Amino acid sequence: MGTIIAPSILGCRHGELAGAAAGLERDGADWIHLDVMDGVFVPVLTFGAGVARSICSTVSIPVDAHLMVERPAGLIESFAEAGCRYITIHPESSEKHIHRVLGRIRELGCSPGLALNPATPPDIVRWVAGLIDLVLIMTVNPGYGGQKHISSMNKKIRTVRRILNDADRQDVLISIDGGVDSTNAKILIDAGASVLVSGSYITSSSDRAGAINSLKVFK
Ligand code: DX5
Ligand code: ZN
Repeated sequence: MGTIIAPSILGCRHGELAGAAAGLERDGADWIHLDVMDGVFVPVLTFGAGVARSICSTVSIPVDAHLMVERPAGLIESFAEAGCRYITIHPESSEKHIHRVLGRIRELGCSPGLALNPATPPDIVRWVAGLIDLVLIMTVNPGYGGQKHISSMNKKIRTVRRILNDADRQDVLISIDGGVDSTNAKILIDAGASVLVSGSYITSSSDRAGAINSLKVFK
């Protein structure tokens, strides 16, 4: 199976995000990754469901909304209505009922994802394995593009893969987000990743199609 490449458009000009997403689709992206930041969970504020809607209506590939927000429960309906296929939430947010919110994302017709900050223990996956389609393992601390990849997360990728296998959820995708480039793509896939989110490596390249292609590692 080939790797799913999900470019993050965080580093693109915010007045032209739908155009940037369309260009990345032409360049071979499998998904578009949207970094939604509320200025509280992380210091930066990005965009909301209106921008997501214009991106979803411009591309035909799945859009993956990564909600780095304190209160995801209040936002999931608008991101589902916007057309996002995957909606991923953080257990480190102030949402107390992660289990319920993941179930609600499913009810809205989307695929629920759980994102883990670097210091968050992976065991939580065991308790929501029946509810999710994706685990997003952060390999930087969320908030900014262009940070250094934390390679010690390889062990967490293997642990999450083992937890999912034990729960008979081999179908759940493991997505890696943060400092992904051609030097670590194969290592991440070998550890058990199936989706590579990549921001600055792709969007700062003068050959975005070439950068996307360089991440397409085959298992
Ligand atoms: C970080 C975001 C990432 C980021 C990835 O908070 O979740 O999606 O845009 O960018 P790079 O690939 O530059 O680390
Ligand atoms: Zn992200």
